[in-house]
Formats: sequence, C-alpha cells, structure tokens
Amino acid sequence: MKSNSQPSSALSERVHQRHGGDELAGHLLAVQEQERFRIAGEVHDEVLQSMIATAIQLELLSSRVRDEATLALAEEAARSAHGAIEQLRHLLFELHPPALAFGGLMDSLRELERRYQGFDGPSVHLDSALSSLPSRAEATVLFRIAREALVNAHRHAKASRIAVTVTEWHDGLELVVSDDGVGFDTDQIAELPGHLGLALMAERARAVRGWVAIDSRLGIGTEVRAWIPRLSD
Ligand SMILES: Nc1ncnc2c1ncn2[C@@H]1O[C@H](COP(=O)(O)OP(=O)(O)OP(=O)(O)O)[C@@H](O)[C@H]1O
Ligand SMILES: [Mg+2]
Repeated sequence: MKSNSQPSSALSERVHQRHGGDELAGHLLAVQEQERFRIAGEVHDEVLQSMIATAIQLELLSSRVRDEATLALAEEAARSAHGAIEQLRHLLFELHPPALAFGGLMDSLRELERRYQGFDGPSVHLDSALSSLPSRAEATVLFRIAREALVNAHRHAKASRIAVTVTEWHDGLELVVSDDGVGFDTDQIAELPGHLGLALMAERARAVRGWVAIDSRLGIGTEVRAWIPRLSD
C-alpha cells in the first residue's frame, strides 16, 4: 500500500494552509490536554476509588456468606466491579497516556498496542525515524489519530499485519498506519451515521492545519496517512 504519491479518495483531507497559527494550535492543544488531565484526575479520585472500595466490600461479602446462591451472586458482583475498574483504567489511559507527557509518542503507541493485542491478532510493527522527539503537542495529535487508525485496523480489517510509522516529511511529521486487511469503500463510509472515528481523525489534523488521506482497496487493505506541521508546546 505504500507509495510516494498521496492517495486519492473522497475522504482525503488536504489542508496545507501554513500561514502561521501553528503556535496557536499548539497552545489550544495544550489547553485541551490540561482539561483531559483534570477530568482524568477526577475520575481517578472519585469514581475509580469508589469502585475499588465496592470491589473490596464485595470480596469481603463473598468470604462471609454461607449459602451457595448468595455466594454466586456476590462473586458475580465482585467480577463486575473488577471489570468496571479495568474499564476505568483504560479510560484514564485514553484520557491521559502518561508517556505523552514526556513526548513519548512511540511509547504510548506501544502501550496502546499492548492493550488491544489479542492472542491471535495481527502482528503490529511500530517504527519511527525522527531526528528528535516530537513535541508534546505533536505527540498528542499524532497519538490520537494513530489510536483511531490502529483501533479501526483491529476492529474492522481482519488484517494479518498492521504497520505504524512516523517520519519527518515536508517540514512536518507524517504518520502512516497501514493494514493488509479487507479494505472498505471510502465513498460509502463517508455517509455512515453515528460512526465518528474517521471524521474525528480528519478534524484533529485539520485543527492544526494538517491533513489525513485514506486509501482503501477492497481485499488489499487500508492506508491512513496523516501529516501535521511542526508544533511547539
Ligand atoms: N482499517 C479498516 N479496515 C476495514 N474497514 C475499515 C477500516 N477503518 C475503517 N473501516 C470502515 O469504516 C467504517 C467507519 O470507521 P469509523 O472509524 O469512522 O467508525 P467506527 O470505527 O465504525 O466507529 P467509531 O465511531 O467507534 O470509530 C468502519 O465501520 C469500517 O466499516
Ligand atoms: Mg473507528
């Protein structure tokens, strides 16, 4: 799927107006991230802690009840509580991937990948060729775009191989997420109500004056390419 020319499709977004404003975009992103961090803190301190307390109480209850029907019920409730705790931790990671704080784009992607990888899932190859670490603002945008593309590849592509690369390209950074899965018809998907991932991906890039281009071919696979200008924190 890899080619040097940009793929063409109805979903392609190419916004190349680079007349300043990148600093402002970087600042807006920083504010957004601070807000996410604040929300993550509240979820962590309130909901997560209550859920942990509930799980402990349910385990205590399980150890004390004698009749089997009540015991089964208590154990089931404890399992649900642990499931909810796991989901909350996942949400906290999504809201605030810790490595992003240090510009660790690839580390965050690796951690994300670890969370999605199943035993018989596709092989995933992450690769970056950068002369310096991306700024936090750059890492944040690329991480959020890469996450959607990666999750889509896992959920929809039935791929055997997924590749993610980040390189320096045309005074900016380019992210490519490709898979060798079933592919899809980009013209039809553009209208799919209630499915926001692709649209959000394009919007995230556009917000910093970048673009996303999607090239998908049935039976061959999908390539998501995103380019963003350099952003300072
Ligand atoms: N890598 C891919 N391989 C195959 N099909 C894909 C791929 N990426 C996207 N699609 C198709 O495009 C559709 C739209 O993707 P999009 O990310 O917008 O929505 P979604 O993943 O279905 O839901 P969500 O709103 O949770 O992201 C998907 O439902 C799927 O049919
Ligand atoms: Mg999606």
